[in-house]
Amino acid sequence: MTLLTVWPEQGPDEVLLRTEDPAEIRAVLAELGVRFDRWEVVPGLPEEPTSEQVLAAYHDRIADVVAAEGYVHVDAMHMTPTDTPDWRRRAEEARARFVSEHTHDDDEDRFFARGSGVFYLHIGDRVHAVLCEAGDLLSVPANTTHWFDMGTTPDYVSIRFFHDEQGWVGDFVEHSIADRFPGLDEIRASRS
Ligand SMILES: [Fe+2]
Repeated sequence: MTLLTVWPEQGPDEVLLRTEDPAEIRAVLAELGVRFDRWEVVPGLPEEPTSEQVLAAYHDRIADVVAAEGYVHVDAMHMTPTDTPDWRRRAEEARARFVSEHTHDDDEDRFFARGSGVFYLHIGDRVHAVLCEAGDLLSVPANTTHWFDMGTTPDYVSIRFFHDEQGWVGDFVEHSIADRFPGLDEIRASRS
């Protein structure tokens, strides 16, 4: 279930909005120019699917997005935990890469076919944290200050859309406020 939490940029003590209502989430994000959609999850993907398998499973949906948004490159990736030191190092590195505030000059358009992750959008004087789960598509517009947390045990399959074959390079904000806010693990725990 998708969860949107809105805090003032000063910190998470005051909660301005907390909702799991997809229609409300869609409306709040649309005001910010952020596309949010929910797709039916296609069952039967293997535990560690190839990009081709994921793209085939969501072929028609992907075609619609590509036609509407003009993307030139689409791929899929997965983070699937295994209990090895090598995995834990890779997971830590992957998490660290995006967990601090940054921008880039392409949209960050992601569909979660499995698992979860949190996008934090720092827009104006607020932070909008969108906990995305399987079936969620979120598009962070180009040049929006944001960060992403995949948690301490990253576990997801996501489809990624790009306007540039080369992908993008993050432009990191000097004094990131990301550390002030709860991460994926805390947000998920707060719900149960
Ligand atoms: Fe990003």
